[in-house]
Amino acid sequence: MPLRNLLREPLRKFKPYTVGKSIDDVRREYGLIGRIAKLASNENPLGSSPLAVVAMRRAVEDVSLYPDDSARDYRAKIAARYAVAPENVFAASGSVEVLELLAVAFLEPGDVVVSSEKTFAMYALAAEKAGAEFRAAPMTDGGFRYDLEAMARLLDPMVKLVFLANPTNPTGTWFTAAEFDRFIERVPADTLVVYDSAYEEYASVGDLPDPMIHFRAGRRILLLRTLSKAYGLAGIRIGYAVGPEEIIQGLMMVRTPFNTSLVAQAGALAALDDVDFLRRSREHSDRELAFLREGLAGLPVTIPPSQTNFIFIDTGKKAGWLFEELQRVGIIVRPVGGRAIRVSSGLREDNERFVEHFRRLVLQPGAEA
Ligand SMILES: Cc1ncc(COP(=O)(O)O)c(C=O)c1O
Repeated sequence: MPLRNLLREPLRKFKPYTVGKSIDDVRREYGLIGRIAKLASNENPLGSSPLAVVAMRRAVEDVSLYPDDSARDYRAKIAARYAVAPENVFAASGSVEVLELLAVAFLEPGDVVVSSEKTFAMYALAAEKAGAEFRAAPMTDGGFRYDLEAMARLLDPMVKLVFLANPTNPTGTWFTAAEFDRFIERVPADTLVVYDSAYEEYASVGDLPDPMIHFRAGRRILLLRTLSKAYGLAGIRIGYAVGPEEIIQGLMMVRTPFNTSLVAQAGALAALDDVDFLRRSREHSDRELAFLREGLAGLPVTIPPSQTNFIFIDTGKKAGWLFEELQRVGIIVRPVGGRAIRVSSGLREDNERFVEHFRRLVLQPGAEA
């Protein structure tokens, strides 16, 4: 029997998330021997929090044992940070785990999920897997920024869940506290609003929302955070969610036992105290994004403002072509739609190479989108 017929109905046309290419993949595919610049997955080019590395090395000694299933210390630390109870905190194996578990616990065919176009692809995929309808609002400001007004117009009693990334991926833009306040007023009290703050550590604007204000006021808001980016811990898969007890209980019901590993819990606990690494990561990213912008100045491309550790470039060329041509010279970026690519703030030598090759390719005739 072909796979299609074995799968649950919502999965029959489902195309899974494609992750960014790995350095090894590209090395093998293109037969490259020199350095490969990986600017595709918004990882931390400075590595991992040194405090976390020490803690993880120590934790490795104990990996013959299962981890603490309740992740008690980690959840207590997060709870203290947000002045909530540990029952309001879910320890996640990367924040994407929460997106999956939300779908398993709360979504079924007939439910509706609202988000935006050009946002984190996992939102639509989580809805689709559960057989729920995904409604995406168009974007504003040149098609790069969430339009919360347009999103509010998509709300109706069938909408169970709203996914918001702020700042968002892949465009890097953000919405303000005032916009969020107006939006929340229009969201029915039962609807869960997921506020995914994966890049918050990189944001420096003063008008970002504090979703916890609405949570404390009794609204059904779930804050999602990751330690994959600014803390440099993408490889151990650790993140968390903070929100209403009934939502956390739903997530706990459907997770796999021991969902966060012993090494991940130890690394995360230490990383959260590493304010020095966080500051260095932020400063590095700010400096390198400024370098990329300067390097690309004068080209016929559009780069919206970003409050993250990456930039989105509307290139005018076919993104697939640019992606291939850059890989040929050992530079991995992320193609994100017809003519756009996303580029993470890498190390200076990698960014220099990217600027050099990207300038050459964009100014070369052909492959116009
Ligand atoms: C908006 C957004 N949310 C969540 C994630 C996933 O992070 P994690 O590594 O914690 O699963 C990403 C990673 O790219 C992201 O861009």
